[in-house]
Amino acid sequence: MSEHQDAFSLAGRVALVTGGASGIGVGICEVLAEAGATIIIADRDEAGAKREADKLVAAGHKADAIMIDMADEASIVRGCAEMIARHGAPWALVNNAGVQDRELLLEATAAEWDRTSDINARGPYLMSREIARAMVAAGKGGRIINIASVALMGGLVKGHAAYAASKGALAGLTRASALELVEHKITVNTLLPGGVATPGAIHAKGPSPDGPAHRMPPLGLCDPRDIGAGVLFFATPAAHRVTNQTLAVEAGWSLT
Ligand SMILES: NC(=O)c1ccc[n+]([C@@H]2O[C@H](COP(=O)([O-])OP(=O)(O)OC[C@H]3O[C@@H](n4cnc5c(N)ncnc54)[C@H](O)[C@@H]3O)[C@@H](O)[C@H]2O)c1
Repeated sequence: MSEHQDAFSLAGRVALVTGGASGIGVGICEVLAEAGATIIIADRDEAGAKREADKLVAAGHKADAIMIDMADEASIVRGCAEMIARHGAPWALVNNAGVQDRELLLEATAAEWDRTSDINARGPYLMSREIARAMVAAGKGGRIINIASVALMGGLVKGHAAYAASKGALAGLTRASALELVEHKITVNTLLPGGVATPGAIHAKGPSPDGPAHRMPPLGLCDPRDIGAGVLFFATPAAHRVTNQTLAVEAGWSLT
């Protein structure tokens, strides 16, 4: 393999993907595994995480699963420590786990705001702390990729106030952590997925979806592996000078 090809390989590297038991996370795990990474799936759905890890192993890849609840700091601290003890400091952390239920602003509850931001923003903040500490101690640099949403570009449906706010917080986390981690050669970037027909999107609770996110993108709906391809770029050694950036994988929705 040439040096150039090596720069796009994740062989010998560990990637921790939260929310890898369903939807977009499954696609991210497949694409990173095919690039050679050992995949650790962290999800509150323990059986789903194990099932998806077993599928990767059956396909000839290396994978493991761990139960972590992103809404629970103690679970994050314990799960990260366990995973680091088993596999060492990961090369890449993909903060993908999230909830996307809808609640109209005029009916908004503090409980829904808290639940959404605990999982979508506070969880990634605590995961970044735990994993970046291990990356810094290992001294080999690393990659953090935060999965926000095209909602930040206006790809919204009604009921997304708490959701869009949580993703805005996540995008802010990218900037702040990119600044603090750049001296350790850890890059931090944001990916904005467009609409993907995942179990989470299809079964999201709340008023029926209505708004600009419903416009069909000219390149068709994304699938989970399309999002995985964007994550792969940020995760590769080739992207060593790419940090504090945002990539939208939205099939041309912004052209409509
Ligand atoms: N599907 C879309 O159209 C779309 C668009 C933009 C952004 N996103 C984002 O992509 C990410 C993945 O979404 P998806 O559509 O694949 O959803 P999904 O519901 O199909 O998968 C989400 C995964 O996260 C896990 N999860 C949820 N809460 C958790 C918690 N507290 N602790 C640990 N794991 C938890 C779930 O168990 C599940 O495996 C989310 O952050 C979502 O906001 C999705």
